[in-house]
Amino acid sequence: MDQPHSDALVFFGATGDLAYKQIFPSLQKLAKRGKLVGPVIGVAKAGWNLEQFKARAQDSIEKHGGIDPVGFPELIGKLRYVDGDYKDAQTFANVRKELGSAKNPLHYLAIPPVLFGQVLTQLKASGSSEGARVVIEKPFGRDLPSAEALNKIVHEVFPEEDVFRIDHYLGKNTVQNVIYFRFANAFLEPIWNNLYVESVQITMAEQFDVQGRGSFYDDVGTIRDVVQNHLLQLLSNIAMEPPPTLSIESLRDERVKVLKSVQSLTDADVVRGQYSGYLSTAGVKKDSRTETYVAIQLAINSWRWRGVPFFIRSGKSLATTETEVVAKLRQPCAIFAAEPPPPNYVRFRISGDPVIAIGASIKTAGDQLRGCSIELIADQECGEDTMLPYEELLGDAMAGNQTWFAREDYVEEAWRIVDPILDGSDVHEYPCGGWGPAEADKLTASVGGWIKPK
Ligand code: BG6
Repeated sequence: MDQPHSDALVFFGATGDLAYKQIFPSLQKLAKRGKLVGPVIGVAKAGWNLEQFKARAQDSIEKHGGIDPVGFPELIGKLRYVDGDYKDAQTFANVRKELGSAKNPLHYLAIPPVLFGQVLTQLKASGSSEGARVVIEKPFGRDLPSAEALNKIVHEVFPEEDVFRIDHYLGKNTVQNVIYFRFANAFLEPIWNNLYVESVQITMAEQFDVQGRGSFYDDVGTIRDVVQNHLLQLLSNIAMEPPPTLSIESLRDERVKVLKSVQSLTDADVVRGQYSGYLSTAGVKKDSRTETYVAIQLAINSWRWRGVPFFIRSGKSLATTETEVVAKLRQPCAIFAAEPPPPNYVRFRISGDPVIAIGASIKTAGDQLRGCSIELIADQECGEDTMLPYEELLGDAMAGNQTWFAREDYVEEAWRIVDPILDGSDVHEYPCGGWGPAEADKLTASVGGWIKPK
């Protein structure tokens, strides 16, 4: 790649929750690997000075992974801070000043989507967009028309090759491993189609609630928060065709093709839920109909997947925190019809370290042809070597590598799919600590019900 490496990182929203939980620890790891070139400039309106900003970085890193003796001083030495309003041209003049001699900065917008347009325009006016790249946090818009409008605004300032729409799921080793495992092994692809696969389920369960993000979440809901982005990205990796090469656009073309084969959803395809007690969360409207749980069925109208139902569910305040994909295979033949063996399946664990399991049936001891279900398991403890998703993705963006970023047409297709089901008002209350509203069971009734993550 003959792209220039970014020689400064400017991150807007530097005093926010995402920066605290994810960005500082990732920056420390990038600094340790020598991947941070030039200053790292935090921008926010918090009334802070540089010392307070550095203290925040230290606190964040201590609480999320710990201080590294090499990476931490390296990062702290690079930190700069600009305090100011995004409406104020002076804020951007100060950013420009801190950039010094940097010619190819990376601007990372970890800010509420309503501010994207304003910041982009100010970057251009202040001369800071020249030679630069931009990383834009999710959610990219709040429906199809707003995503299209935002793409227009972005392109007035940055050409598509300099735009990095970030989705940290694409930086997860386990999510990338779905593609690798599928295409690096000869035994999976021959059965990875509608002849053998009966149904596919994706469950993203979270035991915790909206965790102090009431006002953000209430405006967004589960479909915008995780389905339009994370879970459709996962679906794309599960269902895509092998790309002709590993070039950036080959991979991105295949992921878009999956979405193009998915029909836009209708109300009949979705069940929404809201956990008991959500309405008394700070920042949540008293009569809110925002979903904290969603279950969806969808179809991929391609040669490979025609007739195979796909199910996606995700929710807060559920029984556990786990993300898994399970593809259930068809029964092989009828000779055990009197006592059919449990169906085979392929299970990808997405949260934590990678686990890929094949559910198989094995004869139990005794004189009868009876069996039980076991798992053939491939697991991997990645430990220190695993890159944090933001570490990998920000590193890629600084290197100009768009492989694991959503292209303009991808985000628009994703919104096109969920657009008709956004903001529905039919919401079922569900108790905390369970598996969401019972009404969701009807979606999977024909395939034997929902599969709980292991
Ligand atoms: C974020 C959502 O994008 O992803 C959160 O805003 C969600 O609501 C989180 O909890 C899940 O990410 P991960 O990596 O913890 O599974």
